[in-house]
Amino acid sequence: MEITSSLLFLLILLLPAVALILPLSERRRRRDGSKPPGPPGWPVFGNIFDLGTIPHQTLCFLRPKYGPVIWLKLGSVNTLVIQSAKAATELFKNHDQVFCDRRCPVSFTAHNYNQGSLAVGRYGSYWRMIRRLCTVEIMVNRRLNETAYLRRKCIDNMIHNMEEDAEVARAQGDAGELDLSQFLFLLAFNVIGNLVLSRDLIDSRSKEGREFFNAMGRVMEWGGKPNISDFFPVLKWLDPQGIKRNMERDMGTAMKIISEFVKERMEEKQLGEETTTKDFLDVLLEYQGEGKDGADKLTEQNVLIFILEMFFAGSETSSSTIEWAMAELLRHPESMRKVKEELDRVVGPKRKVEECDTENLPYFQAVIKETLRLYPALPLTIPRNAMEERNFMGYVIPKDTHIWVNSWAIGRDPDAWEDPLSFKPERFLSSKIDYKGQNFELLPFGSGRRICVGMPLALRVIHLALATLLHHFDWELPINTTPKDLDMNERMGITARKLVPLRAIPKKQVM
Ligand code: HEM
Repeated sequence: MEITSSLLFLLILLLPAVALILPLSERRRRRDGSKPPGPPGWPVFGNIFDLGTIPHQTLCFLRPKYGPVIWLKLGSVNTLVIQSAKAATELFKNHDQVFCDRRCPVSFTAHNYNQGSLAVGRYGSYWRMIRRLCTVEIMVNRRLNETAYLRRKCIDNMIHNMEEDAEVARAQGDAGELDLSQFLFLLAFNVIGNLVLSRDLIDSRSKEGREFFNAMGRVMEWGGKPNISDFFPVLKWLDPQGIKRNMERDMGTAMKIISEFVKERMEEKQLGEETTTKDFLDVLLEYQGEGKDGADKLTEQNVLIFILEMFFAGSETSSSTIEWAMAELLRHPESMRKVKEELDRVVGPKRKVEECDTENLPYFQAVIKETLRLYPALPLTIPRNAMEERNFMGYVIPKDTHIWVNSWAIGRDPDAWEDPLSFKPERFLSSKIDYKGQNFELLPFGSGRRICVGMPLALRVIHLALATLLHHFDWELPINTTPKDLDMNERMGITARKLVPLRAIPKKQVM
C-alpha cells in the first residue's frame, strides 16, 4: 500500500512526461519483437502495478496467457521471469554463468552491506572467495556433525518452552494453544546464534541478545519491503519511502552489537583461549585464503556482514518452511498419521530423534520435499543479473536484465507435476526427484553457481526440528478450527510466510 501511494505521488509529478513518452514507448514496444511476451504495462512505470502484493502468485497466474517465460518492465528495470521446469532447465544448463551476477536492492547498500555479501554481492573475486570459504570450511559434513549437539540443545530448549507455555495456558483454563510461528522463528534464530557465535541470543537474561534480536527483526522488515528506488535507480538518493535510512539505523545497531562480540573473541584468541569446537566466527577469523581471488583475509567489516547474512538467510527461511509443513500435516490427518507412525516405528518411544534418523524416514522426507515444492521460502529465489546480452530460448535478453526464477510457479508447473496443487507427499516415494538443484522442476534452493550455500544446514535444522515436534507431541488444531478452515494464505516479506501465523495445541505423546 505504502509503495502504491508513493507511486501515485510520482505519477502525478510525472504526468506531463508520461503524455510525451506514451507514443514513443508504444513504438518501442512494437520494435521489441525479440523480447519474450508479457503484459503491456504503463509508460514510465511499466508493469509495477501488475505485481500485486504477492508477486510470485500474480506472475504464476499470468502463465496461461503469456507462457512460461515472461518479460516485464519494472520502472526502468528489464526483468525476465522464468516460470516452468523446461525454461529453468535451459537457464541453468546453458546460461548459468552469464546470469549468475546479482544486482543489490537499494536497502542492502546500507553500510556497504552488498560489498561484503555473498547473497546480494556481485559475481567476482570476493564472492568466489567467501563462497569457497562457506562450501569448504563451514557448510561441510565434518563441521555440521560436530555441531549437531548445539542444534539438539536449541530444539530441546524450544520443546521445554512450549511445554511450559502450554501448561501455563491450561492452568488459566485455556486449551494450551501455541503460536508455532513465533517458537519456530526463535528456534531458527537461536540455532544460527549458537553455530555462528556460540551465544544464546534469545536468552531473556541477555540484554545485547534482546537488542540484537529486535534490531534484526527490523532489518528483515526493511529488507522485505518493496522499494520504489529499486525500480527507479535515479531515485536512490531521494529514498522516497525512507527504507534505506531505516536500514542504516537498524543495521548499524545490529552491527555494533556483533562487533563487540567479535572484539571479545579476538581478545580471547590473543590470550590463547581456544575452544574444542570451532564456531563459524572462529573459522572466519582464522581464515587464510589462498590469495587466488584477491584478498586472502576477511576485513572486520566483512566478518560482521557475513555474520548478519547467516541470520538473514538462515532464520526465517528455515522457520517458515517448518511452519508450512506443520500446517499441511494438520490439514491432512492421513499424512500426519503416516508420518507419526513412521517416526514411532523407526525412532520408538525411548529416545529422541537424531539427525542421522532422517535417512530411515522416507515418508517424512517426502513430506519435507512436498512442503518445499509448494512453499519455497524464497519463491522468486534471489534475483540474478545478466552480465552480458544473451540469446535465451530465441529471445534477446539485454545486459543488466534482472532474472527472476519463480520456483513457486515451477513447483506448480502442470507440465512437470501431476495434480500440482494438491499436497501429496506420496508423489516422492517412488521418485528420485530431489531439491539439490539437479531436478529443475523442484528448485526451492535455486540451482547452479548461486545455489543456496546454506542448504546442508537448512536441511538438518528443518528435518530435526519438525521430526522432534511430531515425535514429542501429538498436535491438534485450535478448538473450532477444522482442517478445511486453516488459512493457507501467504504474505511477503523477506520470505513468503503464512499470512495468519499457525496456532496449534500440543498434547503430550502417550508413550
Ligand atoms: C529452507 C531454508 C532455505 C531456503 C528455502 C533457501 C533458499 C535459497 C535460495 C532460493 C537462494 C538463491 C539461489 C539462487 O540464486 O539460485 C539462496 C541463497 C543463499 N542462501 Fe539460502 N535458503 C535456506 C536456508 C539458508 C541457510 C540456513 C543459510 C545459511 C545459514 C542460507 C544462506 C544462503 C546464502 C548465503 C545464499 C546466497 C548464495 C549466493 O548467492 O552465492 N540459506 N537460498
